[in-house]
Amino acid sequence: MAWKPRLGHALRRVRVFKEAEKLSRRSRDDGQAGSLSYCSRCEHCLVGIPNTLVISWIERESERMPRLKPIRIASWLNVGLTVGLTVGSGVVCMAFSALGGHPSFGPAHDGPAYNSPAYIGYDQARPILDALKQVLPPELQSLPAQNASALWDQWVAARDRQIRSRLERGDEDSLVNFLLFGTSFTTQKRLTIEFLAEVGRKQANAGSSVSPEGADLMATVRARADDLVRGMQAPGQNERLTFVRRLLERKGYTLTDQASRNRARDFLLASFARVLGDQASYAESLENARKTGDASQEFAERSRLYRERGLSSDTSLFPDFAIAETLAAMKSRGLLAPGSVRRVAIVGPGLDFTDKQDGYDFYPLQSVQPFAVMDSLLRLGLSSPQSLGVATFDLSPRINDHLAQAAASARRGIGYTVQLPFDTGRGLKQGLSDYWSGFGGHIGTPVQPAPVPPAFEQTRVRAIRVRPELVTRLTPVDLNIVLQRLQLDPGDKFDLIIATNILVYYDTFEQSLALANVASMLRPSGFLLSNNGLTELPSIPMHSVDYQTVVYSDRPGDGDHIVWYQRTGQ
Ligand SMILES: C[S@@+](CC[C@H](N)C(=O)[O-])C[C@H]1O[C@@H](n2cnc3c(N)ncnc32)[C@H](O)[C@@H]1O
Repeated sequence: MAWKPRLGHALRRVRVFKEAEKLSRRSRDDGQAGSLSYCSRCEHCLVGIPNTLVISWIERESERMPRLKPIRIASWLNVGLTVGLTVGSGVVCMAFSALGGHPSFGPAHDGPAYNSPAYIGYDQARPILDALKQVLPPELQSLPAQNASALWDQWVAARDRQIRSRLERGDEDSLVNFLLFGTSFTTQKRLTIEFLAEVGRKQANAGSSVSPEGADLMATVRARADDLVRGMQAPGQNERLTFVRRLLERKGYTLTDQASRNRARDFLLASFARVLGDQASYAESLENARKTGDASQEFAERSRLYRERGLSSDTSLFPDFAIAETLAAMKSRGLLAPGSVRRVAIVGPGLDFTDKQDGYDFYPLQSVQPFAVMDSLLRLGLSSPQSLGVATFDLSPRINDHLAQAAASARRGIGYTVQLPFDTGRGLKQGLSDYWSGFGGHIGTPVQPAPVPPAFEQTRVRAIRVRPELVTRLTPVDLNIVLQRLQLDPGDKFDLIIATNILVYYDTFEQSLALANVASMLRPSGFLLSNNGLTELPSIPMHSVDYQTVVYSDRPGDGDHIVWYQRTGQ
């Protein structure tokens, strides 16, 4: 559902717009980012591969691969619309994702046991339905009064299934990241952001013909796809290869003979082509928002950019640095008192499959954010190690299982090891470097990191073994924040909820439902921290207090605005 400009007028009272204008002014005054156009770091921020290159490649490949034909049409539609924008501007900040069940996890840990989450009821959702009439899905626009509640419940259950089904496409996006960046299955060069940027520049000068660099890129993708198929045939202990093999098997691709392996390889190439088409459409949305010259509109568009894409589980240290800086700012403003944060929830903790920036695949899959948040809270003295509990809310069985297993191992005395890669060649800011160097000091001890493959010559790695007693404080809960909430006694409500790079996957209406669910689980005056600008409706007792801008690197627009929302009323 697109956010029509008309809605901007209808929702003039929406606070976030005013806030966003204020933030925008403030960043200009501060000489900071200058606008609210920051990228979400959960995604690759790539220089555009010009569409001429993509189109000619797709054309060529589709001669050979009938399977690509439908994608070709889709890509033409997406890409064709944006040729002028991407080729004309040369450099376009594009989205490019990696990675993207049901049982609730309960009492087998030291954290509190939660009851199963409940769906948001019609009475709870009704004020949102009334306020956002213009952007509701058509089937919700005129619910007949006599059975509105029952129809709402049906819609919620169906929508929950639909949202969860987006995980599969997120996994397919991860597959593409692995294909481009992975080093564990190939000796082909990695298709880094810098390399793709270079191809983009060269191809822009080559007009409609394919530049040598463009041809090299496509040959490399092809060779990588062949290597990935070979790797999947014998994955050994490589959990990423096992994961992609299972993903392909679920889609009906076997690797039993040469013909089926060719089909699997073609699927990988088709997925790559699809992702390029998707990128072009995100770039178009952002460019259109930018053209309005309205920073708040642009922030709003960026905040829901991936509303139709697969759900990625990708994660990295960057948003955790931004959260650490935000918590420090809130503490210094007296908004969070020492020792006051005992119950924390992290919505969408993520699982690092193949790092979104550099494609790190040389260490085991890991979740970082829950440990990063614990570390920051303890370092700032906002929490004490004896009383801190962290719930994680995610709808991905893979992530919930991973964290449940971590907590189970911790109960047997085994800590959780977090690998912390840092690329010294990316112009990352000193603050981020300091954060990386000090990470983990309050939750564990440094251990020998995973060996760094030669391909990552500028990458340094630290590793921290998190103390088992802290890992047991994790309580993973299977919960879809858009549609579900925990029903908590007042004394069990959260002091702090963190949601970075997750609400961007939803549109205004679903973000509002999520905000209402978050509000219901926060104690009065508790905080939500998010790097997305959310619509504030009078019926949702949450309002944005301020924000923190955190810059990650020298690259333009590389950072986050973390907005802090406070629970109002009782
Ligand atoms: C891109 S990752 C972000 C990870 C981490 N928060 C970060 O900023 O690096 C998005 C996470 O949100 C989860 N997620 C997506 N939609 C969700 C929903 N409706 N409810 C709960 N979790 C969701 C995904 O499974 C994934 O763990």
